[in-house]
Amino acid sequence: MNQIAATPNAATAETVAAPVAAPVATPATIPDATEVTAVTHWTDRLFSFRCKRPAALRFRSGEFVMIGLPGDPDPVTDRSKPVMRAYSIASPAWDDELEFYSIKVADGPLTSRLQHVRPGDLIILRPKPVGTLVHDAILPGKRLWLFATGTGFAPFASLLREPETWERFDRVIVTHTCREVADLAYGRAIVAALPDDPLIGELVGNKLSYYPTTTRQDSVHTGRITDLLRAGTAQRDLGIDAISAATDRAMICGSLDFNIDIKAVLEGFGLGEGANSDPRHYVVEKAFVG
Ligand code: A2P
Repeated sequence: MNQIAATPNAATAETVAAPVAAPVATPATIPDATEVTAVTHWTDRLFSFRCKRPAALRFRSGEFVMIGLPGDPDPVTDRSKPVMRAYSIASPAWDDELEFYSIKVADGPLTSRLQHVRPGDLIILRPKPVGTLVHDAILPGKRLWLFATGTGFAPFASLLREPETWERFDRVIVTHTCREVADLAYGRAIVAALPDDPLIGELVGNKLSYYPTTTRQDSVHTGRITDLLRAGTAQRDLGIDAISAATDRAMICGSLDFNIDIKAVLEGFGLGEGANSDPRHYVVEKAFVG
């Protein structure tokens, strides 16, 4: 089944769907090449794109792969080394395309070029998925918290469209902290599409709570999610008495500093970190940018 999940509902998002530009590489020269099918620019700093899914790629919702572009040829050897980075797959495991969500960094070795991909272009995708933001790494519980900052939302765009997420938990609370309201657009569109999703819409029912926060622009919830949790503001807004190891599970994906701080908050509530080999109350992945 194919789902166009990043369809923009923000007036500013611009989707490019028709092949218009020459490919940046050809399959004959690039191993593990796959074709871009759609690109959406959410802000001048954020974009998402979809590409064909290599037949050999199997992954669990929430995992990441290495993607990239061919590098410039070495002037002496004429050989080029691809520029590769880890990217969370933003589409669910059942989707027959792949989706990625990325920041644009003007002088970033990869994203300075990746931001210009168009439908029909080829990217490199190594079909070896890994990651800890998977259901196997957390114990059953009542509530699942998904804590993201910035492009750390990507694995949750996958997990929110994964039926297991809704089958395992009574309530799923998605928090997303960004600098400005416009930065929330991709996550907001994914969340908004869930109730009408033909595969998981019924499973979602009334289990979903969306709690976006902004730190450099006032919005409904202003401030860092870490501060809002420490102060009890988020729990009050969401109607939750207490966060505890008995009821709550969490997945974390953001900047290194964010991961450290939110871990400390959760440990303060008595939650312990899990892994694929040792499922516990929460798991962490770092956001991949650059
Ligand atoms: P802030 O604006 O207070 O730094 P960035 O764009 O730098 O990746 O940050 C994305 C969001 O993550 C911003 O809203 C930022 O808040 C927030 N953030 C960064 N570090 C932390 C942290 N240690 N704890 C909580 N939120 C953080």
